[in-house]
Amino acid sequence: MKIILLIVVLINLVISSNGFKKSYNNFKVYRIIPKNKDQLNALKEIEQNPSYIFWNEVSYVNRSVDIMVPPILQNKFSKILQNFEHKLWIKNVQDLIDNENVVESKSTFDWHNYHDLDTIYDWLRYLSVYYPHVSLVNGGISYENRTILGVKVSFKPGNKIIFLEAGIHSREWISSATVTYILNELLTSNDPAIQTIARSRDWYVFPNFNPDGYQYSRTKDRMWRKTRKPYGGCYGADPNRNWNYHWMDGGSSNWPCNDAFAGSSPFSEIETKSLSHFISGISYNIEAYIGFHSYSQVLMIPFGHAGLEVPANNVELKRIGNITATKLSEKYNTKYRVGNIPEVMYVGSGGSSDWVLGTNRHIPYVYTFELRDQGKYGFLLPPDQIIPTGEETFDAVIAMMKEFDKKK
Ligand SMILES: *[C@@H]1O[C@H](CO)[C@@H](O)[C@H](O)[C@H]1NC(C)=O
Ligand SMILES: *[C@@H]1O[C@H](CO)[C@@H](O)[C@H](O)[C@H]1NC(C)=O
Ligand SMILES: *[C@@H]1O[C@H](CO)[C@@H](O)[C@H](O)[C@H]1NC(C)=O
Ligand SMILES: [Zn+2]
Repeated sequence: MKIILLIVVLINLVISSNGFKKSYNNFKVYRIIPKNKDQLNALKEIEQNPSYIFWNEVSYVNRSVDIMVPPILQNKFSKILQNFEHKLWIKNVQDLIDNENVVESKSTFDWHNYHDLDTIYDWLRYLSVYYPHVSLVNGGISYENRTILGVKVSFKPGNKIIFLEAGIHSREWISSATVTYILNELLTSNDPAIQTIARSRDWYVFPNFNPDGYQYSRTKDRMWRKTRKPYGGCYGADPNRNWNYHWMDGGSSNWPCNDAFAGSSPFSEIETKSLSHFISGISYNIEAYIGFHSYSQVLMIPFGHAGLEVPANNVELKRIGNITATKLSEKYNTKYRVGNIPEVMYVGSGGSSDWVLGTNRHIPYVYTFELRDQGKYGFLLPPDQIIPTGEETFDAVIAMMKEFDKKK
């Protein structure tokens, strides 16, 4: 048995080092700050070239953009750079990927590493077996036929629902790790105040809204963001640009090779389509829908589409958002900005939070966290930051819920 395990581990090691995986050796990330409208438009032009990988989107004058550049285009890009205020931000992306210390084969579940889909799912199944208040829920089947697995935690009937969504952008691994951290705290915390809050709600937790993308980001291309459905020569739609509310209304692309490709139609992706059905089935009872992404350290309030719509209770959402961000900063001094999506990030349409609130106006609280960091590691947050990120984010979510309770 031990020998078989060893062989499996060795085979996995070979697969991971023999070049099946896309290498980011000598890819560099530059941080550019557009200083005027012309520079902004020039960056938007460059964004159309899929050889440059934009880690965030071009938004406003004076708001920075992180652009990953492959070695082969370095010379060409340095000429472009002369026109902009810029910094070399990450010298070698592959070094950061190597530091993530990826655990390839099945291992015990913990928060010292980022785990693969099977390991996360096995842990969810384990919880459903060993914790009487946990059951598995199925959000649908992905394009490559993987289950979109989540859990429901319910201590008593009649509770309102808190929905935690993570991993819709597959390369944002810290989002998946953070919701599993929160889930574990809800089940195991010895703090009576936390137990009371945990038990006062039904929790739906989905660590991986985009399981195909997640596995692809683990085994083939660390920077993969989209689904894996083929579109001509390119793959995948951005599952957070594909929901059927103000679809293609700003900050999305209709070009399949683009990282923000909105899909061929609203809900063209089986993942968003099935998850929307799942959410509709329980939406009457949802108190809060909270999404998790990375990176930037902002707490976002809908809506993201170009119309600059705001929720009816926008002021209240901002007030609670501020309290949440203040609480989040207490443990490690991690600073967040709070605001409507276009205010604190950029216009982006077809996101899950826009659809959830736009089609379910009775849901009082919809928020999206962009977790650590502010770009030092970007999507490649070192695993020793999983627990601190989990701790501060759990504090924030609990603080948020205490505010919900004050309204009652
Ligand atoms: C951008 O920042 C500069 C200072 O660095 C300032 O003079 C300018 O007004 C800002 N522009 C906008 C549109 O915020
Ligand atoms: C998913 O399963 C269906 C039914 O078994 C099969 O027809 C299809 O080819 C599978 N898709 C992929 C991408 O494996
Ligand atoms: C939230 O905090 C910011 C910054 O401190 C402040 O400008 C804003 O008025 C606050 N919003 C609410 C609704 O409290
Ligand atoms: Zn994201």
